[in-house]
Amino acid sequence: MKLSSKIQEISPSATLSITAKAKQLKSQGIKVIAFAAGEPDFDTPEFIKQKAKEALDKGLTKYTPTAGIPELKQAICEKLKKENNLEYTPEEVLVSCGAKHSIFNAIMALVDDGDEVLLPKPYWVSYPEMIKFARGKIIEIPTNERTNFKIKADQLKEYITPKTKLLILNYPSNPTGMMYTKQELQEIANVLVENQIYCISDEIYEKLVYDGLEFVSIASLNSEIKKLTITVNGLSKCCSMTGWRVGYACGPKEIIQAMGNLQDHSTSNITTFVQYASVDAIKYAEESIKKMVEEFKKRRDYIVEEINKIPELSVIKPQGAFYVWVNISKLKGKKYNNQIITDSMKLSELLLTEARVSVIPGCVFGDDDYIRLSYAISLQDIKEGLDNIKKFIETIR
Ligand SMILES: Cc1ncc(COP(=O)(O)O)c(C=O)c1O
Repeated sequence: MKLSSKIQEISPSATLSITAKAKQLKSQGIKVIAFAAGEPDFDTPEFIKQKAKEALDKGLTKYTPTAGIPELKQAICEKLKKENNLEYTPEEVLVSCGAKHSIFNAIMALVDDGDEVLLPKPYWVSYPEMIKFARGKIIEIPTNERTNFKIKADQLKEYITPKTKLLILNYPSNPTGMMYTKQELQEIANVLVENQIYCISDEIYEKLVYDGLEFVSIASLNSEIKKLTITVNGLSKCCSMTGWRVGYACGPKEIIQAMGNLQDHSTSNITTFVQYASVDAIKYAEESIKKMVEEFKKRRDYIVEEINKIPELSVIKPQGAFYVWVNISKLKGKKYNNQIITDSMKLSELLLTEARVSVIPGCVFGDDDYIRLSYAISLQDIKEGLDNIKKFIETIR
């Protein structure tokens, strides 16, 4: 059998071996604390489920326009205007199967063979694979703790060549939780406009922001950057709806139409009764989101404080999302029994087998000096898991 060269370039998930081992331990009745979770541990709010059931009972189970039902696109436009100071018409909106699908469509619509795509590092794991699939060239822009894992406008300039087509921004970031300020975004936008570079702004964690920080959509800064930006958002994280698969993209009409053409011939519309429930989720989830954010904030404060008490680990307090990006560089090269901790993958494997906690190794996000822990698990599990981690680290020499 000969698979296509395109598909052969796509890496399987590097975390699969960890997940498989975690499952194996669980099946043996061993409790594993899942710091690897990538989704809120709350249930989807009841009123949203109710709407989906009503839509089913009404027989709303047939095809809809690919880009989404008018009511949903209208609700998205109203949300963007009210919350993000962004004016889009319904034809500038495309509803897709999760933000992941929206980003995939956008990359396919914009990136040609050999086009350079700027990717701040650490990055969400799917971006590089999507860029590869589009035959684009990944240009990583490294960040570090000194800049709170954010790129700077001056740094951005250094990576631009005549082949640069696109920058992918994600804030609050997965995995670091960091946010860009309006000023920082303005400076980045100026560079993009000056060089006519497109931007995919992945705003999926928009609502999960702490300490009263203001979330600003880069496209809202001025009409020039708006013309170059595809804003991506969805309901997975803010409404605890990961399995419902609702994402959307908005941007210049020609790009959204091109993305819609691709979707026409791949998935078509997202599930019809889900679209009806999504209208309500977009309009009325504020209270549920507020409660979830309060709970996440408590957990964030606890996990950051406790991790920073462990001398071998350190973490910068994230401003959003539900992850902590933990520096493990002090552990590299040390030994657990006779096993050397060579990299973040080895540490993650040992944490699983010896401390019974699953974490994601930083290498999959492009930085091996870190591991990602999610606090989308109960405070009690966080306490127990951190206790296990502490005890394990005490045995490392
Ligand atoms: C940064 C980022 N973008 C997009 C997604 C995909 O979200 P969705 O479930 O809406 O496809 C995720 C999910 O983990 C994410 O972390």
